[in-house]
Amino acid sequence: MQQNFNNYTKEDWEVWKILFERQVNNLKDKSCAEYLSCLTQLTNELKASIPDLTLLSTKIFNENGWSIEIVPGLIPVDNFFSLLAQKKFCSSIWIRKKSQLDYLEEPDMFHDIFGHIPLLLDTNFGSFAQQLGTIGVQHKNNPQVLLELQRLYWFTIEFGVLKTDQKLKIYGAGIISSFQETNGIFDKNTVILPFNLDEVIATDFNNMEIQTKYFFIESFEEVKMALSAYAKRLLVVKK
Ligand SMILES: [Fe+2]
Repeated sequence: MQQNFNNYTKEDWEVWKILFERQVNNLKDKSCAEYLSCLTQLTNELKASIPDLTLLSTKIFNENGWSIEIVPGLIPVDNFFSLLAQKKFCSSIWIRKKSQLDYLEEPDMFHDIFGHIPLLLDTNFGSFAQQLGTIGVQHKNNPQVLLELQRLYWFTIEFGVLKTDQKLKIYGAGIISSFQETNGIFDKNTVILPFNLDEVIATDFNNMEIQTKYFFIESFEEVKMALSAYAKRLLVVKK
């Protein structure tokens, strides 16, 4: 699939600009320093206009070997993990309508690109994502492991929260790309538990509703180590 710029309407360009400017402002004191620093590296490609994914992909590939794979929408989980293992991140190329600025049922390009791509430039986070994909490939015939990895993905890469110096900061793309959810995290009624791998992989999620429960980590190193321990455990079980 290829991105055809002739297919974007005036509304599409406006929507990207509105979403980008609104969320960059909103994230300043709410997202983790790693995301903000990575976003700065891509600001030229992302600001105020629909990004050219070929150029963006080349840029991140030259930085640290990740690239963007254009997909028609959600793809089967085994394909998704296989691409992650190859440091390829999936993105759609359509953009939500103005009437959908705050709520989407499936991820659009703003979510996939603005939410996910910047943090892949962070070495620890990027290698965690790749490692998660690799374990998925190694256990592609084990539905239970695939389910557990999807939950882990959901509560980290998609909806993860980081706590540093007693302050909560967001890093999950589902939050980063949502104005409403970015602010909802800081509501005193939001449940945010310390990350525990066994609890995370046993927790169901609903991708059709706003989240009610989040897990915080203290560093990307922490979650990488937890994933390595999980991978070792799986190998012992397999023997
Ligand atoms: Fe996502």
